[in-house]
Amino acid sequence: MGSRLSEICKELKVCDLEQFIPEVELNEPKQFLTDIMELALKERRNRRIARLIKRAGFPAAKTLEGYDFSPITFPEGFQRSDLLSLNFIDRKENVLMIGAVGTGKTHLSIALGVKACMTGYEVKFYRTADLVNELVEKQRLGTIDKFMKAIMKCNVLVIDEVGYVPISKQGSELLFSVISKCYENLSIIITSNLEFGSWNSIFGEARLTTALVDRLIHHCHILNFQGKSYRFQQAIKRKNAMKEGSE
Ligand SMILES: Nc1ncnc2c1ncn2[C@@H]1O[C@H](COP(=O)(O)OP(=O)(O)O)[C@@H](O)[C@H]1O
Ligand SMILES: [Mg+2]
Repeated sequence: MGSRLSEICKELKVCDLEQFIPEVELNEPKQFLTDIMELALKERRNRRIARLIKRAGFPAAKTLEGYDFSPITFPEGFQRSDLLSLNFIDRKENVLMIGAVGTGKTHLSIALGVKACMTGYEVKFYRTADLVNELVEKQRLGTIDKFMKAIMKCNVLVIDEVGYVPISKQGSELLFSVISKCYENLSIIITSNLEFGSWNSIFGEARLTTALVDRLIHHCHILNFQGKSYRFQQAIKRKNAMKEGSE
C-alpha cells in the first residue's frame, strides 16, 4: 500500500517525493523541503523534454556537440550564434539549409530541433516524402484539418530533404498549403540539395513553386553547406587510419 505521502503527492499532481529523500541532506527544514522540491521540478522538466523529443519524431539522435560548422556559410546579419540562440523561433523566421548530400544538413536540423525541445518548444520533424504521403493520406481520410491544426500548434516544423524526389501535383498543393499556413505563425527549417532555381523540378508547376518560394524566403535565413560529403571524408579518414595502422 502507498504511504500517506504518496497519496498527497498524487492529489497535488506532483511526482512521488519520497523517492528524493535519500538524495537530500537534512540540515534544516526549509532547506530540506526546497531541495526536495527542486529535484521534483527537475524531474518534471526532464519528463516534458523527453516527451517533446519523442513527439517531434526525429529520425536519429543528433546533437550540436562536436558538430563542425566550418562547411557552412551564414548570411549577413545571421551568424552561428543567432542560429544557436533559437531567437529565430520566437520571431517565427525560417531557416533554409542548402547543400549537397552528406554535408550535415539533416544532422544540424535534428540537433537544432532537439535544442528547441530542450528549451520547451514543440517541434515536428518530417522527411518531405513522409510529410507529403501523410498529407495525401489524411486528405483521403478526411482528417487533414485535424492534422494541419496539430502542425500549427508547433513552434518549429522541420521539412528535411526537399528536392530528393519529385512530388505529385496533389502533394505539392498540400505542401504549399502547409507552408502558407505556417507563414508568420511558426518557424520552418527546410533542408534541400537544390537551389531555388531548380525547385520547379520538384513541384512541377512554376506558378506554385514561385508562390511557395516567395512565402519561404520572406523572413528566411539561408545557410549554404559547402565542402565534400562529411560521410565521404570520414570514410577516407578511416581508410587512411587503417592504412597507417597496417604499415
Ligand atoms: N559538420 C558536421 N559535423 C559533424 N558531423 C557531421 C557534419 N556533417 C555531417 N556529419 C555527419 O555525416 C553524416 C551525414 O550527414 P547528414 O546530416 O545526413 O548530411 P545531409 O543531410 O546534408 O545529407 C551524418 O552521420 C552526420 O552526423
Ligand atoms: Mg539529409
